[in-house]
Amino acid sequence: MKLWGGRFTKETDKAVNDFNSSIRFDSRMYKQDILGSIAHVNMLGKCNIIPLDEAMLIKKTLYEILNDIESGVVSLNPEAEDIHTNIEQILISRIGDIGKKLHTGRSRNDQVALDIRMYIKDEIINLSEMLINMEKTLIDLALEHLDTILPGYTHLQRAQPISLAHHFMAYFQMFRRDIERLKDCYKRTNVMPLGSGALAGTTYPLDRYMVAKELDFETISENSLDAVSDRDFAIELLSCLSIIMMHLSRFSEELILWSSHEFGFIEMDDAYSTGSSIMPQKKNPDVAELVRGKTGRVYGDLITLLTVMKSLPLAYNKDMQEDKEAIFDAIDTVKLCLPVFTNMIKTMKVNKEAMYKAAQGGFTNATDVADYLVKKGLPFRDAHEITGKIVLYAIDNNKPINELTLEELRNFSPLIEEDIFEEICLEKCVSSRNIPGGPARESVLEAIKSAEKFLDDISNDNRNR
Ligand code: ARG
Repeated sequence: MKLWGGRFTKETDKAVNDFNSSIRFDSRMYKQDILGSIAHVNMLGKCNIIPLDEAMLIKKTLYEILNDIESGVVSLNPEAEDIHTNIEQILISRIGDIGKKLHTGRSRNDQVALDIRMYIKDEIINLSEMLINMEKTLIDLALEHLDTILPGYTHLQRAQPISLAHHFMAYFQMFRRDIERLKDCYKRTNVMPLGSGALAGTTYPLDRYMVAKELDFETISENSLDAVSDRDFAIELLSCLSIIMMHLSRFSEELILWSSHEFGFIEMDDAYSTGSSIMPQKKNPDVAELVRGKTGRVYGDLITLLTVMKSLPLAYNKDMQEDKEAIFDAIDTVKLCLPVFTNMIKTMKVNKEAMYKAAQGGFTNATDVADYLVKKGLPFRDAHEITGKIVLYAIDNNKPINELTLEELRNFSPLIEEDIFEEICLEKCVSSRNIPGGPARESVLEAIKSAEKFLDDISNDNRNR
């Protein structure tokens, strides 16, 4: 049965029917569709647009259909045009003509806009819960590694020593911004479009605020043309998801490098790595690699949606049906990645000795030698120049700076005294960077305090939503 058969004299071509149909991917919105219809029909009854007893019958039947779908008593029809059509068909098959009144004052254009907004709102909460879990894990790891020293890198060259806690907390900040971005996207998704009709609103006196309240929307859309043709909120979501994946892929890349023999900084738990079918010695960081690879999918989904929406005239166009697979794929992918990634970092083994040893090489304390000279009265540029010469000498003699003798060091500057050794040991290099935002233990603890407060606030927010 078609919802629009009246005007037609021929059946739709079978191939066109399949081509046109979205049921194979939009059926996952059955719950949003039914709850949206329940709110709509409730309002139709309360506003006397259809008889109250009929509205109540429709409402009761819709709840039954929801139950039956969830318990598997009824299955959706793979031939249906879309989920909206399919639910209405089931309703009419159960209560006949009364069911035909559900769609009064509504179009599938505002209906689908509603469903997808409801779907995304739910998923934003799920995604942000997953990010919160990741954040908690990062804080736990940071607390465990406040004094674990490793080289910090620029250009992938050893630069200055930092703590592993500081490194983990860098990722905390990235995911924190991701949570905030999702929260912001939620605001613009939280707008109720029903009442916009196909494009020009409706002649029925619908109480849009009542529907918004029942469905837990903050507000209603203010332009019917825009409401049925807007997918900005979905594009924003996919941008947020792309940025999350970008963060995950940077993290993955580091962990892949770190688990190589060349670095040897970490070892993935056996449960989070895989072997090779030919090389018996191999233990591969597949999870991190897959997360890195799946980043491409999510970027692709964003570009798909941007391109689908590009140049579309107002208002609804069927092109927009192509939004769903991209939206669902991006959400599914990120929801797949976040928990495995979180557990992977929770279970990986950190090789503190290898990290420390790496920090000892590469002259990561050279800046501290220059800073030492500055404290003894030299301008920084001169101190930099002298330290460069010391580094060159150390390279030639194949020794780290702190293993040069005082005499050797004094050849470069008479300002250098015995206290230099204490000043340029790795622990001191880290602990003296106790500026807010720095890697020293106390600074990282400060950052963790603020991180915990952020998580408390955001969890409260989510609970109250
Ligand atoms: N399946 C459609 C979609 O996903 C629903 C809206 C259909 N509206 C229409 N006028 N054909 O966009």
